[in-house]
Amino acid sequence: MAKQDRSALIVGASRGLGLGLTRAFLARGWAVTATARGEAPALAALTPVAPAIRQVDIDDDAAVARLRDDLEPESFDVVFVVAGIADGAHVPLPEGDRATALKVYETNAVSPIRFAEAFAGRVAPGGLMVLMSSILGSVSLNEGGTWESYRASKAALNTLARSFSARHGDAPFGTVLMHPGWVRTDMGGPEADIDVATSADGMVTVVEGRLGQRGCAYLDYRGEMLPW
Ligand SMILES: NC(=O)c1ccc[n+]([C@@H]2O[C@H](COP(=O)([O-])OP(=O)(O)OC[C@H]3O[C@@H](n4cnc5c(N)ncnc54)[C@H](OP(=O)(O)O)[C@@H]3O)[C@@H](O)[C@H]2O)c1
Repeated sequence: MAKQDRSALIVGASRGLGLGLTRAFLARGWAVTATARGEAPALAALTPVAPAIRQVDIDDDAAVARLRDDLEPESFDVVFVVAGIADGAHVPLPEGDRATALKVYETNAVSPIRFAEAFAGRVAPGGLMVLMSSILGSVSLNEGGTWESYRASKAALNTLARSFSARHGDAPFGTVLMHPGWVRTDMGGPEADIDVATSADGMVTVVEGRLGQRGCAYLDYRGEMLPW
């Protein structure tokens, strides 16, 4: 398949990694539909090729269903759910408030899986459902603690994604849980290891190399397999 025939839906692309992924897929000739939940001037300003822009808040099931219906009958080689939050990340779980911990679980674990379910029938044969996880979602690598609610939400996402993949075991697409590296974004902060372009370019390379493979893999932006 020629790259210009490939299409991606990037969910949560107003800034940070979603915006960087949109730019990177477009630069490689993919057709991109990118979503934001509000005004997204940086997304709208992308040149020389612009993405198609849609609105969706992944925590709103009705909005997700509307997006799916609006995009009918389009299918995508890659659906990449990037959106996530890290509210209260620096507070140990018992010290934070319940509502914040539950909101992080909702946005980072429940909503991406519900989005994936809504769009499972829109992944083209040989394509991928990619969910933005984190190395902090690895239970076995958690020896130092910190970022407690956030870690738990990404560990939950990983587990739910394996269930999603098992549930769709006969479907003609694969599932990838992606760790982007520690990246300089609003969430990652200015001290992070790498810039958005390095991470996004790496993730697109990993995704392109993974097309046609089924099952559920937990990979980083260099293609390294991570331990659960
Ligand atoms: N940066 C890192 O080092 C790092 C490392 C590991 C994993 N990650 C993961 O990578 C993803 C992107 O992170 P980032 O660093 O780019 O963060 P960011 O700069 O804070 O951007 C977060 C993005 O998610 C969107 N979003 C949040 N809640 C949403 C919702 N309910 N519906 C739709 N969109 C929503 C935001 O939209 P608004 O502009 O409307 O707020 C924004 O586009 C997250 O899942 C994060 O957990 C990041």
